[in-house]
Amino acid sequence: MATILAIGIATIDIINHVSQFPAEDDEVRAVSQQITRGGNATNTLTVLSQLGHRCHWSGVLIDEPDSLVVRQDLEWHKIDYSSCLHLNTGKMPTSYITLNEASGSRTIVHHRDCPELPFAHFKHLDIAAFDWIHFEGRNTEELEKMLHWLRQHHPEVPCSLEVEKPRPGIEALFHLVDVLMFSRPYVKAQGFENARDFLQAQTAPGLMSCSWGEKGAWLRSGDDLAHSPVFPPEKVVDTLGAGDTFNAGLISALVNGEPPALALTLASQLAGRKCGQFGFDNLSSEQ
Ligand code: FRU
Repeated sequence: MATILAIGIATIDIINHVSQFPAEDDEVRAVSQQITRGGNATNTLTVLSQLGHRCHWSGVLIDEPDSLVVRQDLEWHKIDYSSCLHLNTGKMPTSYITLNEASGSRTIVHHRDCPELPFAHFKHLDIAAFDWIHFEGRNTEELEKMLHWLRQHHPEVPCSLEVEKPRPGIEALFHLVDVLMFSRPYVKAQGFENARDFLQAQTAPGLMSCSWGEKGAWLRSGDDLAHSPVFPPEKVVDTLGAGDTFNAGLISALVNGEPPALALTLASQLAGRKCGQFGFDNLSSEQ
């Protein structure tokens, strides 16, 4: 069991389940609705917590009535948020999500009026207390300061960076982390049509993964490139946070000392299991 800190966001997810995706300008009725906590970093922690790790989140919590959903869910999943930055203006980031139950696809409209966690807050955290730090690749300017500081003061603490979307300056972070987790949209935005070519073109020294939907996922470790097929559930019902789940599986296996190729397989299996169910609960095979 490891003590893991994730830096990134928590959101309020308003999820409308529909039986088929509406056409533009259509009016449809949702099959059901859920209001729950989301956000990549905290989704990943939710899964890591079930896998037996002690989880901590540091991000921005706005003091407003809606943040209760976030706080209650973090408490339920035993995620410590005592190192968050509390602000009393703004709004918790909110995602309006259409979840198509026929295909499991999730279409997200995201609204935010919430600053990102600044380096000035991060540098006061007790970094030595953590066995692993995971960063969501968002505010690249502040992240660059955090990563340089981490490398200078705590080079022994392994860290990972999720690279989900292209963001100005994000490439400057690649040489500063031990594990890079790329998504298909990021790779495609760089002009690559497959994970293999992209990973082989990278010059960063760390491990790097890239998941590619139904084609599976790849992991590069030095000159070795491992591939894992997808482990599809009987029926795909919910892909919301499948990437966050994959990242959790990878972190968990690596922090437990598993070899990279096995870590990739375990992460892919976990992501497959998640796509066959709604939400993130009961994902550990021991449950
Ligand atoms: C899923 C997710 C949602 C959230 C959105 C934020 O990966 O984290 O929970 O609303 O993405 O971009």
